[in-house]
Amino acid sequence: MNLQFNLLVFIIISIFKCDSSQNRPRSPSKFEPQYNPRYRLNPTQLMLSNELPPGDQTGQALEDFDARLTGRIVGGKTAQEGDIQYQLRIEARTAPKRLRRCGASLVLAFGVQFGVTAAHCLTSRNDTKVTLSPKVVNIIAGAYNVKNFTGREQRRNVTRLVIHHLYDSSDEHKRPFEDIGLVFFSSPFKVTKLISPILLPDQNWDQPDEVLLSGWGFTSSRGPKMRPDILQTLWTPTIPIQFCKMNFEYDGIKLSERQICNLKDKAGACGGDSGGPAAARNVTNRRWYLAGIASYNLGLCGSGMYPSVYVRVSSYINWIKRHVSDYKKANK
Ligand SMILES: *[C@@H]1O[C@H](CO)[C@@H](O)[C@H](O)[C@H]1NC(C)=O
Ligand SMILES: *[C@@H]1O[C@H](CO)[C@@H](O)[C@H](O)[C@H]1NC(C)=O
Ligand SMILES: *[C@@H]1O[C@H](CO)[C@@H](O)[C@H](O)[C@H]1NC(C)=O
Ligand SMILES: *[C@@H]1O[C@H](CO)[C@@H](O)[C@H](O)[C@H]1NC(C)=O
Repeated sequence: MNLQFNLLVFIIISIFKCDSSQNRPRSPSKFEPQYNPRYRLNPTQLMLSNELPPGDQTGQALEDFDARLTGRIVGGKTAQEGDIQYQLRIEARTAPKRLRRCGASLVLAFGVQFGVTAAHCLTSRNDTKVTLSPKVVNIIAGAYNVKNFTGREQRRNVTRLVIHHLYDSSDEHKRPFEDIGLVFFSSPFKVTKLISPILLPDQNWDQPDEVLLSGWGFTSSRGPKMRPDILQTLWTPTIPIQFCKMNFEYDGIKLSERQICNLKDKAGACGGDSGGPAAARNVTNRRWYLAGIASYNLGLCGSGMYPSVYVRVSSYINWIKRHVSDYKKANK
């Protein structure tokens, strides 16, 4: 745990050093959203879910773009191995030729180790009300360069998947609420210097001013989709939810207090980052907490004009607790 904090302190310091001007939270009063219909995609494309045929990951076309990668979520930094020890990678075989890749966070709470992710990472392709079979889901901790596994990462099978019972994205004109899911493993991950769980926040946590995002999602949203091999990180300011509602709700799209909006110039989460963490530090005890879960973008990712929307984890503590107790009872 200490090692994790030291490493993370180190990243924060180095990110602030390199990029201190851009890391200040944006003052809402100064921010004027510019609506540009060109950047407005069809809502289903805005989902961060990243489901492509397996060939796409190693396809020649993508290899050609690797040389141009400079390291971003969109606009982020390439992590050092071991920086984000709670980062999980979910691989779900949703159909014989479909591999869905998502992020998740390794959490230790209520005496159990489990994964926290987005509901939309765990639903069937055909019916968003149906949870995937645990058999088709594999989970990896300690992953870093996903094209060059080292043997230091650990894989687990999944024994139970839970999605929020009110989650529904079947109406593509509605953005999903309650986009949260839990993943229980065949056995706990061994804590190493690359793998260590993060804590849940308190129920009454105020929204942090900034959060640390991480994932293997696209590093560009226009032109060719560039998929990084190495985990990307980004510190991004959050914006007050009332301000986000006032400026970005449109066409029946509703936001809620149970979500967090993040907005940063030319940077943000993108397709493939779904389910992944937004982490923050408790100002009192300096420990890391899982503040949010990547859910969707309100517009083109990385344009700096539309926020990404994360599930606010502190709003779901009771829900998580209930499902962890159910799991414990079933596994006595
Ligand atoms: C999903 O739908 C497709 C086409 O409608 C069908 O071929 C496939 O078997 C379905 N998959 C599942 C898991 O139900
Ligand atoms: C994979 O990583 C190892 C170090 O962990 C390195 O020595 C090796 O060159 C890498 N291989 C490729 C193909 O990048
Ligand atoms: C996962 O399940 C498969 C098939 O049942 C088994 O072969 C494999 O060893 C399991 N892996 C782990 C890490 O438990
Ligand atoms: C932060 O830490 C303090 C002191 O341990 C604790 O009282 C508070 O609930 C924590 N906040 C969160 C969000 O967990």
